[in-house]
Amino acid sequence: MNLEEIDQIIKTKLSEKRYFHSRCVMERCEEIAKQLNFDVEIAKKVGLAHDIAKEIPNEQKVEYAENCGIIVDEIEKENPTLLHAKIGEYIVINELGFTKEMGRAIRAHTTGIENMDLLAKILFIADRTSKERGFEDIDYINDLLKENIDKAVLYIFDKKIMLQIEKKAQMHPETITARNWLLKNGNL
Ligand SMILES: [Fe+2]
Ligand SMILES: [Fe+2]
Repeated sequence: MNLEEIDQIIKTKLSEKRYFHSRCVMERCEEIAKQLNFDVEIAKKVGLAHDIAKEIPNEQKVEYAENCGIIVDEIEKENPTLLHAKIGEYIVINELGFTKEMGRAIRAHTTGIENMDLLAKILFIADRTSKERGFEDIDYINDLLKENIDKAVLYIFDKKIMLQIEKKAQMHPETITARNWLLKNGNL
């Protein structure tokens, strides 16, 4: 499926606001992919489609996921919004013809994942630094990215974990696992 066709589908599945976010993440994926000599088309498609499952109502997400054959853990049952990443992976592979690698990047975009490949790292950073989110540390993340992509990914893990601590909110163990993996194997 080409980018135009994906765009039409995303538009029907998301609110105007989230569609705009998806377009902004696509632009960021493009910028980062160019910087790192990664395939721009692939990065853009993944950016555009990453939140494809976000607006499935939260009260339907657990059942939706189980119908896709996804094993839903306890943290996801209590925080079903997390499931939009795994459901998204399922939808993009089965409905948009994405590769496994592209699907896995979408699966990893919220919590991170062990053995994150370059595409997954690009999307993870793009989702946190898209212009419309207006985070104050975008320039700082870009500086880290220029030094080394793994430093930018680690910084975002740390910020995500600190945010959950501040909110006294649950943290998905995959984030800790992914961060531990990066600390051990990353180029930091
Ligand atoms: Fe998301
Ligand atoms: Fe997003």
